[in-house]
Amino acid sequence: LFSAIEMAPRDPILGLNEAFNADPRDTKVNLGVGVYYTEEGRIPLLKAVEEAEKARLAAKAPRGYLPIEGIAAYDRSVQELLFGADSALLAEGRVVTAQALGGTGALNIGALFIQRLLNGRVVAISNPSWENHQALFQNAGFEVKNYRYYDAASHGVDIAGMLDDLRALPAGAVVLLHACCHNPTGVDLNAGQWQQVLEVIRERNLLPFLDIAYQGFGAGIHEDAHAVRLFADSGLPFFIASSFSKSFSLYGERVGALSIVTANREEAGRVLSQLKRVIRTSYSNPPTHGASVVAAVLQSPELRALWEAELGEMRQRIRGMREAMVQQLAELAPQRDFSFVAQQNGMFSYSGLTAAQVDRLKDEFGIYAVSTGRICVAALNQKNLGAVVNAIARVI
Ligand code: LMR
Repeated sequence: LFSAIEMAPRDPILGLNEAFNADPRDTKVNLGVGVYYTEEGRIPLLKAVEEAEKARLAAKAPRGYLPIEGIAAYDRSVQELLFGADSALLAEGRVVTAQALGGTGALNIGALFIQRLLNGRVVAISNPSWENHQALFQNAGFEVKNYRYYDAASHGVDIAGMLDDLRALPAGAVVLLHACCHNPTGVDLNAGQWQQVLEVIRERNLLPFLDIAYQGFGAGIHEDAHAVRLFADSGLPFFIASSFSKSFSLYGERVGALSIVTANREEAGRVLSQLKRVIRTSYSNPPTHGASVVAAVLQSPELRALWEAELGEMRQRIRGMREAMVQQLAELAPQRDFSFVAQQNGMFSYSGLTAAQVDRLKDEFGIYAVSTGRICVAALNQKNLGAVVNAIARVI
């Protein structure tokens, strides 16, 4: 039966973990997957999470089935974080939110919903984008196009190219946008550019789908929601996939959400009813633990303040590592300007390293990065930085 099945290639990101885990070198460094590590090289268990988990354990909470759309308090907390607690959209009951299996799960049920109920056939993603965007939308039956985004020469956004490519899309096409901390480049649109993108989307009758997996890792929780709030004020319908994997360091708990902005409360009710059918036929209903913990943290003023402080520390440590990396590279590889690394946002840097250089980093130095040259700056620390910078200086 299976004799004709070919071996699939390793996943370009998660496949690196497999190779990394199998590498016996104790000097190895994993700059592949987007995971935040502490200065000690550990994935943190946030104190706010620990407190909420203790309380949940003590309460001996039952593990019955959740509603198909997840925990109501969690969905509400997601909305407030995205739109702001005083959002008019929330007061008007225009936003539908369903707990989802991480950001990926949210993208997946969103893509299925658009394909099945809105007859969506075309999606445009940035060039480059997170590797899974293309595969995931293809899997849901979409034709995937690219819009210009990253300009390697300036290490900035090719906004003219982006707007031209968006204008060329057929009406109704989905436009996938990274709301903050663009993955993989770390290069975001500024406020004026967001406004220009919004105007083209409105003119061309496109459907925006915002992916926000790094809220709080750019400039701050509210600042990083700028694009979400701009679209919220626009009156347009749109989709948002959000995730707490990174901001709560709850990667394995798969805690995300899909939110859909509709025209009014009545429409929201119909949209939710159909979204529930998409979810029910995909995985029935979501898991309890992670979302209960996130909701408990976000609803307790003390735990929320603690979480914001911990998130701020993660953000600051990453900034510090960017600056230290730039400084050390300037000393060891003065022939090449890496100052752009300090300007990028979030966990990643699009380093400009070629696939061959990334291979050498792995083979000769045990340093793992994505073949596109994306490195996870959030995995650097004072102990491994020297080795990483030395290796980069050797391969360029
Ligand atoms: C990444 O881009 O490394 C993360 O979003 C993890 C993943 O699922 O790929």
